Amino acid sequence: VVQGSNNVLSNIVASQFDLHAKYGGVVPELACRRHLEIIEKVVEASLDEACVTEERIGLAAVVRGPGLIGALLIGVMFAKGYAAATGKPIIGLNHLEAHLYSTVMSNPRIEFPAVGLIVSGGHTSLYLMPKVGTYRLLGSTVDDAVGESFDKVASLLDLSYPGGPSIERAALDGDPGSIRFPLGMTKKKSYDFSYAGLKTAVLYHIKGHGKTKRDSDIITEAEKSDVAASFQHAALAVIVNKALRAAEDHNAGSILVGGGVSRNNYLRSLFEKKASKKGIQVFFPLPELCTDNAAMVAGLGYVKYMENPMLAGADFDADPNIRSLR
Ligand code: KG4
Ligand code: ZN
Repeated sequence: VVQGSNNVLSNIVASQFDLHAKYGGVVPELACRRHLEIIEKVVEASLDEACVTEERIGLAAVVRGPGLIGALLIGVMFAKGYAAATGKPIIGLNHLEAHLYSTVMSNPRIEFPAVGLIVSGGHTSLYLMPKVGTYRLLGSTVDDAVGESFDKVASLLDLSYPGGPSIERAALDGDPGSIRFPLGMTKKKSYDFSYAGLKTAVLYHIKGHGKTKRDSDIITEAEKSDVAASFQHAALAVIVNKALRAAEDHNAGSILVGGGVSRNNYLRSLFEKKASKKGIQVFFPLPELCTDNAAMVAGLGYVKYMENPMLAGADFDADPNIRSLR
């Protein structure tokens, strides 16, 4: 529940980490069942925590894509039912646009044009943003997303799920320069990304098929930390370099970072080190708005509805592969 464009009254997240941990990633069937079980309770809890009664709600905002079709369908159907039953207007939104909006919501004074960077479990993309609501895709991953590579490498290292925070933790005791993993797509002048090669390089390193020969794939805690730190550096340095190059190439003074991986402190410090030298300001979401959450969806819904009430209406479907950001 939000009031206006950035006043968060409640932001309930029903995490499913416990459910998916032993599989090292989201199991769609299990995710959908859990969504169905809890969605109504989550809506009730968010109204309770915000101390707001249903009558005061002015708009229902829901993500229509991209994402897992089953999960999206449950959200969209529930929101449409809620809107119909209560007589509220409803708006269907793009998940990635909501991630970029979470950064705007957290930093009221951003100057445009900006470069928008989405780093999540499903996406790694760069956009040129002349203003909030206008996006031109500059590049995206040609294979895995950066967050997905954190999750996969964490599972190779037997670290807990989700992989991002556990790799970040393990990396604190490691040396990011100890292993030279390949940085994806650095030679090309494009803004695209690639993570499949990096993931394979980590696998070979652990299994001992890489340059470091091992008798077995038994790996000590200290080695794990070095692998985590070196992987984290390879995965994130390329993102920082490309985002800064995109900003320079397009005369953008700001970079907006959004999505689960924007929570990572190594990413934040790499940006801080390199961006200030170039006079570019980099903006991140507040910690509680980095990973998937409903406050960013509600905030974006408010802004869009205020700009153009005609955008409201239940005439939209869940779309797992939605292309345009708007
Ligand atoms: O945006 P998000 O919550 O969900 C998607 O839209 O995908 O992002 C989840 C991703 C996961 O892959 C998770 O491992 C990663 O964000 N993540 C992190 C950190 N916290 C979450 N990656 C690196 N460092 C973190 N601290
Ligand atoms: Zn997300």
